[in-house]
Amino acid sequence: MADEAPIVHKGLDSVYVTESSICKVDGTEGKLYYRGYPIEEIAENSSYEEVAYLLIYGKLPKRNELDSFIAQLKAERDLPQGIIEMIASNAAKADPMDVLRTAVSSLSLYDNEAADSSKEANIRKTIRLISKMSSIVATIGRYRNGGGYVSPDAKLSHSENFLYMLNGAKPAPEQHKPVEMMFILQAEHSSNASTFSTLVTGSTLSDLYSAVTSGIGTLKGPLHGGADEEALRMMYTIGDPSNTENYINEALAGKKRIMGFGHRVYKTYDPRARVIKGYLLSLQSNSSEEVRRLTEIALRGEKLMIEKLGQSHGIWPNVDFFAGPVYVSAGIKVELFTPLFAASRISGWCAHMLEYWSDNKLIRPLEQYTGQIGLKYVPIDKR
Ligand SMILES: CC(C)(COP(=O)(O)OP(=O)(O)OC[C@H]1O[C@@H](n2cnc3c(N)ncnc32)[C@H](O)[C@@H]1OP(=O)(O)O)[C@@H](O)C(=O)NCCC(=O)NCCS
Repeated sequence: MADEAPIVHKGLDSVYVTESSICKVDGTEGKLYYRGYPIEEIAENSSYEEVAYLLIYGKLPKRNELDSFIAQLKAERDLPQGIIEMIASNAAKADPMDVLRTAVSSLSLYDNEAADSSKEANIRKTIRLISKMSSIVATIGRYRNGGGYVSPDAKLSHSENFLYMLNGAKPAPEQHKPVEMMFILQAEHSSNASTFSTLVTGSTLSDLYSAVTSGIGTLKGPLHGGADEEALRMMYTIGDPSNTENYINEALAGKKRIMGFGHRVYKTYDPRARVIKGYLLSLQSNSSEEVRRLTEIALRGEKLMIEKLGQSHGIWPNVDFFAGPVYVSAGIKVELFTPLFAASRISGWCAHMLEYWSDNKLIRPLEQYTGQIGLKYVPIDKR
């Protein structure tokens, strides 16, 4: 009798792959918690450095612990000359995510601890990666704009320094605040595709740089981290707010996906999207004509999509939908959105990797074979 066919969970939908105490995504209630703290409270009160500490060490730091963590991050900001040169020769012509992935992979060549798999070395590498990835993304943006390398400024916070290395000038608060908020909101999101691929690579007992390089490659796709870029490009294509409904109706009729909507876990409004939208609305009186126009398109698009697909299909705005206009308000160009997402998510990836390695098990799922078996080999001249 033939074996009973196993249940195939396409896309690992609804499959639990591990236990974790880092992040809770409640897709029914639309809630998100970092180490138990609601995302709204974290976004309101915390800094990215504190969030990174929380994710890695599992608790909010005391003042002296945070000061020491920040000092370690600052000490790691500068980039090796070889990485700067690689960015300089590729940034203008290549996809920034490809440059970022290559740069992060190459960082291991400059790290004497790259192959040290002790927990202590992995925490030091985590701090190095958090710090240097932000510098790499800023430097990619800088060279794309025709500038040269800007050395980090140890007086600045993590996200202020990112903007400083990108623009060569200290950021005004209205530029810094949205970038800080996005760093915090994108830092972690349980076993999303890029975190999972980080764990798959790490579970072979490969090293942290290899694991994170896998994560970056996975984040690049438009169904994951690339969605914020696509959502903003769509808003620019719509152009005038009055075209919004026509554009979306036609896109849906043509079976196209509207980027920035829908989620594997949230079947209601993504709480991060709510925070970003709230911030965007708070900006309006002081923002540029461009940001006001993009906001109006976003609001009209949101209303229509919720009417058409919200309650009926569980397709609601996700973190990526309102992110574009917010980044535009901070002067960040669209092609840097996904690299910035990676520079933020690095703390989540590493926190998960450290946690997983504390009780490692090789990740190796099964597949249901549907091909033939027992075929007789035919020599090439007889086929
Ligand atoms: C994120 C995403 C991949 C999750 O989807 P999923 O759980 O794998 O569900 P599916 O891709 O199977 O989609 C289920 C149905 O909803 C539809 N759907 C999902 N997202 C949609 C969107 N953004 N616009 C229009 N339709 C959408 C699909 O077309 C599909 O319809 P069908 O059953 O008639 O074929 C999906 O919602 C998507 O592609 N969103 C756009 C990209 C995006 O914003 N990604 C960032 C996530 S944070």
